Amino acid sequence: MVSASSSQPATARRPRPDPPRPDQRSSARATLRSKRRSGRYPATDFRLASATCVSVAVGGRNILQAYRKQAYYFCRRGQGAKTLPPIRRRESKVLDLKGKVAIVTGGGQGIGKAITLRLAAEGCKVAVFDLKPEAAEAAAEEARAKGGEVTVYGVDVAQQEAVNKAVERAEADLGPTWLLVNNAGWDKPAPFLQTDKPLWDKIIAINLSGQLYMHKAVLPGMVARGGGRVVNIASDAARVGTSTEAVYSACKGGMISFTKSIARELARNNVLLNCVCPGPTNTPMMQSVLGTGEQAEKWKDAMVRGIPLKRMGEPEDYAGIVAFLASSDAGYITGQAISVSGGMNMV
Ligand SMILES: NC(=O)c1ccc[n+]([C@@H]2O[C@H](COP(=O)([O-])OP(=O)(O)OC[C@H]3O[C@@H](n4cnc5c(N)ncnc54)[C@H](O)[C@@H]3O)[C@@H](O)[C@H]2O)c1
Repeated sequence: MVSASSSQPATARRPRPDPPRPDQRSSARATLRSKRRSGRYPATDFRLASATCVSVAVGGRNILQAYRKQAYYFCRRGQGAKTLPPIRRRESKVLDLKGKVAIVTGGGQGIGKAITLRLAAEGCKVAVFDLKPEAAEAAAEEARAKGGEVTVYGVDVAQQEAVNKAVERAEADLGPTWLLVNNAGWDKPAPFLQTDKPLWDKIIAINLSGQLYMHKAVLPGMVARGGGRVVNIASDAARVGTSTEAVYSACKGGMISFTKSIARELARNNVLLNCVCPGPTNTPMMQSVLGTGEQAEKWKDAMVRGIPLKRMGEPEDYAGIVAFLASSDAGYITGQAISVSGGMNMV
């Protein structure tokens, strides 16, 4: 037996807590009693749970808190209720995406290109759906040069018929889709009162209807196969609004709500959906929004000043989280909107 020696450093052992005072014991009992009244602890196992809690009260209130939970599950098990499902952990430390089929819309440039390259590097078979197949082909070549497998399909996501045909073709060529990344987006900033329906319709068609068409074409297969992932590239504009981008922000906000709703509907089918919300990012889209020259630099500086990490986003900043959300490491995450914006918006 090892006895405590007075020569041991003071930090080696934490002092034993004082034994509980009678009032602490009765407070633990009172907590359990109120839980039982509220129906959270079944009456039959109350005494067992009570004994567990009171005995751990010796360790102090914090330990008691932890054990309350344990006692709760203990009770439930005794009652024959459904216990927590076993947690299956992967042995491997790499993302398990090898051989999985991913569709990336707008994967030809900017954020979509970085996502395409990363997924290809992780071993995915990537189908790029892009309005500009020539530009997307250049991205695909870059991935192929590093051993990646990328196939380009010229598709306008705002055309439902074209989307349905492209999904059918991609699945026939590459296999069933595991991951859908809805990244294609477009905007033309202007003060709302100076805009009209034709512009709103175009923004809505690309940034909202297009995403709905993609979901409608891909999700039935995922449901039938009992699993799949969707990552929707929204925007921090959806969370906090952006002047001159009202309709675009509305589409992105709609996309977040849509994602949460479908995440609830399809959780039972093991289809997990999440949003990634970029902040201002150096891409061709941003260049066309900002324009060039001194004024563009001023706007950029003003944006960076508001970002705690003091830089604009780069397309590669989003590729890792998309790959992670597609992997089994993210198997307990669904219906979330995750900001990746250098801390610009902490909501
Ligand atoms: N760049 C930013 O600052 C920023 C910030 C927040 C959110 N986002 C979002 O990130 C996503 C990517 O943005 P980006 O900056 O890389 O844009 P980008 O313009 O640089 O690239 C968009 C890609 O989508 C394709 N595309 C556009 N319309 C399409 C359509 N109808 N059908 C198919 N493909 C189409 C384009 O050809 C292009 O390859 C978009 O959804 C955008 O709203 C961007």
